[in-house]
Amino acid sequence: MFITDSVKYIGADDKDIDLFESQYVVPEGVSYNSYVIMDDKITVMDTVDARATDEWISNLKEALSGKAPDYLVVSHLEPDHAANIQKIAEMYPGMKLVGNAKTFQMLPQFFDLDLSERTINVSEGDELSIGSHTLQFFMAPMVHWPEVMVTYEKSEKILFSADGFGKFGALDSEDDDWACEARRYYFNIVGKYGAQVQALLKKASGLDIAIICPLHGPVLKEDLGYYINKYDIWSSYKPEDTGVIIAYASIHGNTAKAARECAGIFKDNGVENLEVFDLSRDDMAEAIEAAFRYDRMVIASATYDGGLFPVMEDFLAHLKSKNYQKRKVAVIENGSWAPVAAKKMTDMLESMKDIEICEKKVTIKSVMKEADKAAIKELAEAMM
Ligand code: FEO
Repeated sequence: MFITDSVKYIGADDKDIDLFESQYVVPEGVSYNSYVIMDDKITVMDTVDARATDEWISNLKEALSGKAPDYLVVSHLEPDHAANIQKIAEMYPGMKLVGNAKTFQMLPQFFDLDLSERTINVSEGDELSIGSHTLQFFMAPMVHWPEVMVTYEKSEKILFSADGFGKFGALDSEDDDWACEARRYYFNIVGKYGAQVQALLKKASGLDIAIICPLHGPVLKEDLGYYINKYDIWSSYKPEDTGVIIAYASIHGNTAKAARECAGIFKDNGVENLEVFDLSRDDMAEAIEAAFRYDRMVIASATYDGGLFPVMEDFLAHLKSKNYQKRKVAVIENGSWAPVAAKKMTDMLESMKDIEICEKKVTIKSVMKEADKAAIKELAEAMM
């Protein structure tokens, strides 16, 4: 992948990983991006996951053509980017590590190697000249870990944005819809930290950016306003689109029927953006993405062991941990003898910020009847 004459891509695609971060399915894989800036002082921007070490080393050596790097900038210590710090430090003993106070505080937790004599500790706004290029560092704590920083290269106007603007999907995948997998990545991985992303966007707004080089996914060179606008919407927790997600947790299919009945009513009333998730079978991360994307949500759950059917509890716990807020939500419960799902769901929703709970609630006893259909219709109409 060509970035500029002096900035080379040396990252790697991972198309065999079963679960990214041991929790996210990535049908199109994921890329671990790493870059080299060739100048008087050769600078490597992050390493890659241990799963891609060999390919990365080979790409690195090819880019260096026999030279040695002077600096390694460590934007983020999470192992999908930092796993090879020790390796590259041992390969190039003259190379210095560029990071911030938190980077160097956490670094020894990951590596049994004393690199303290080889560090350049940078703070907000510091600059490092490497020849015709000048790197300027901006702290981005909690986007997505506390030590995260981004680097702005002034001469070519490149923002090395760490996890920001990253997406699932290998670089050679067929997926050309950036927003879909970028949104799923964003809400599931960085979603909790909207305020911190807003702070970073504010800093970025003061920079003239021509190219964004994230640590996952494609390098962005055109129409940067589109991506920045998406990040602004996502990190401010505003709904991106008008629409409805219906998520259900059904044991024997009866709660699922109620959810589908509800979906039919929305459809009949012209709701075009409508997504229905079976929380037992569909990708939870996709359901979380949809919950943040739309302005309204209907959740339907069976009662189980005097509580919620576990996948619904899991879904709502995920939403809470990702700071789900500013949405209207309706609940449908099912129970054969003592339905409590609506109360449990409502309790969890009330523990979140700015959630408007629809006044219409539906209780089904075992199997949906005509009266239940009428109640579901009323609930859907209250959500129009
Ligand atoms: Fe891609 Fe937070 O690491």
